[in-house]
Amino acid sequence: MNKNTILAKTGQILYGGDYNPEQWPESVWKEDMRLMRLAGVNFVSIGIFSWAKLQPTEKTFDFGWLDRLMYLLGENGIWADLATATASPPPWMSRYPDLLAVDVDGHVYSHGSRQHFSPSSPTYLRFAEALVKKIAARYAKHPALAAWHLNNEYACHMNMCYGEASAKAFRLWLKERYHTLDALNAAWGTAFWSQHYSAWEDVQPPRKTPMFSNPAQTLDFHRFTNAAFLKIAKMECAILRKATPDLPITTNLMSFFKPLDYFEWAKELDFVSWDSYPDPLDYGELIGARGHDLTRSLKPGRPFVLMEQVTSHVNWRPVNVAKPVGTMRLWSHQSVARGADGVMFFQWRQAASGAEKYHGSMVPHSPDPEKTRVFQEVRELGAELKKLEPVAGTLVRSRAAIVVDWETWWALELPSKPTEFNYLAAIEPVHRYFYERNIAVDFVTPQSDLSGYSLVVAPTLYLLRGKDAKHLDRYVREGGTFLATCFSGIVDENERIVPGGYPGHLRETLGLWIEEWWPLGPSETRKVRLGAKALSGSRWSEVIHLKGAKALATFEEGYLKGKPAVTRHALGKGQAFYVGTVLDDSSLGVLLDDLSRGLKLAAPIKAPKGVEVTLREGGGKRFLFLLNHNGKAVRLPLGRLKGTDLISGRKSGKAVLLKASDVAVIELE
Ligand code: GLA
Repeated sequence: MNKNTILAKTGQILYGGDYNPEQWPESVWKEDMRLMRLAGVNFVSIGIFSWAKLQPTEKTFDFGWLDRLMYLLGENGIWADLATATASPPPWMSRYPDLLAVDVDGHVYSHGSRQHFSPSSPTYLRFAEALVKKIAARYAKHPALAAWHLNNEYACHMNMCYGEASAKAFRLWLKERYHTLDALNAAWGTAFWSQHYSAWEDVQPPRKTPMFSNPAQTLDFHRFTNAAFLKIAKMECAILRKATPDLPITTNLMSFFKPLDYFEWAKELDFVSWDSYPDPLDYGELIGARGHDLTRSLKPGRPFVLMEQVTSHVNWRPVNVAKPVGTMRLWSHQSVARGADGVMFFQWRQAASGAEKYHGSMVPHSPDPEKTRVFQEVRELGAELKKLEPVAGTLVRSRAAIVVDWETWWALELPSKPTEFNYLAAIEPVHRYFYERNIAVDFVTPQSDLSGYSLVVAPTLYLLRGKDAKHLDRYVREGGTFLATCFSGIVDENERIVPGGYPGHLRETLGLWIEEWWPLGPSETRKVRLGAKALSGSRWSEVIHLKGAKALATFEEGYLKGKPAVTRHALGKGQAFYVGTVLDDSSLGVLLDDLSRGLKLAAPIKAPKGVEVTLREGGGKRFLFLLNHNGKAVRLPLGRLKGTDLISGRKSGKAVLLKASDVAVIELE
């Protein structure tokens, strides 16, 4: 099987959800199968939280129920996304004290919820390895098995563990990284505040300290924590790959999740998937789009799967509002529009007990679930996704990219900075710009191949290695357009100031250097003039000296009056822009509009506000997705484009009429 697309085995858009039949008598399973067939379900994630059921005591296993379940799925033509079941260890394992995670205050977690294990616990690793080996051996050849699902939302609730098991593993990790204590002392700058180490056993995780902890130590602890979880995933992958070299492996990621560097994670997976739960009271389509765009970007050239979303309401917010009618359908299509080949829910049947019994599901609590509004919508969606089969395997192509770097995220949000930074607050407005203009955009890292992008925006790329800066510089010289925003290029991988003046390794690319930073107070703003246009900045200003760049915009008030605020540096065949303040959304829009216009970055068709437009392409076919997020109907002129709506089956005329919350997927001629 070609792992490039998970559809190679199923040949369809995947549809289904987390299925936890171990919570129900087996008499209910038959009814589940009937309802799944009715709903068009073809893929379910099973066994995610069933470790205690599969291994009720240290020495005993029970796979009988899972055998019967796999058989039933196969009999009903439903593919299994079989979990490795390592997400939550059974209570008996807590008898081994190293199992339990410890927080920064030294408090030990307990079983009785989920995910209480330390990622560095030898006990956890030993039992997890044994369990995965058993599952892999038992089900490798099962005809219903379509994919492996590692663990579940790694590190979601418990990520930084500060216990003894972690301390030991951290030291080993540091020894591998630095080899000698001298190198560690140098990297961590331990000459400061009497932190010099003379023995490895004195090195600790950054536990509770009276004042700021050593930033390089904390940054390394982020790296170590990411590596500790990834080590578990790699261990599971190795076992599964050996058993089933041709079956794809995934795990459900969580979009912008700070503890884990998902670009690193994606390398281990055959396809990526994620869980999307925007609050319907927020700007949910924007938040969903951001997650889809990131997830798609983690594995360029491959579709992803929306592994979890909810049909209606969750249970974990203070107030859990229901998705307005039509939103579940619209947001599901949105995931396909942005590159998903699978639309899944948490969960199939609503639980009767446990902490998630008030969480929405595909089969709600009801004497006759088939008649509920939610199930009927689930059923209609299943029928529609079947019609989208021709879309499967096609891709979203972007010419714009936003740089996101997990190491910058970890380093930037350490305390004791010139001002308080929030990395996502720097990234989100840039993504929002592209989203609202229907310009396709990917996320990339400072190491990504950038040759296909006309515009690369790097919001506050604070930590930058010299070789990555060279890579960005080459991109510009070879004809790219690059834009960095303030506090970029400041430190190296050890959170040490890059010598020679700010912005460190980016000085030559941007053609400037910065003498002083002038952070602005919470209510302060600065007028900025860009040609004839009045812009506004806040939070940050700085003294920029031009060394080849030209000032495009200047500060209009305060000490910095008349000094550069936005610059452009013509370099080689390309150009590098820099913004020395935090522009408000409309000002950022003015600047990015200028760049987009110059680079001919545009939406596939013109559309009114609240209408999302994307293109998926491949195999000589093009699909135009039109999603109306407005509460009223819209008319969309198609210009010269023509085609047939896969959902309604109607040929498009000169324009498409979309009702409130409606969707069209036009296969273009
Ligand atoms: C996460 C988990 C699921 C479930 C849902 C509830 O996404 O992976 O097991 O707890 O949240 O929203």
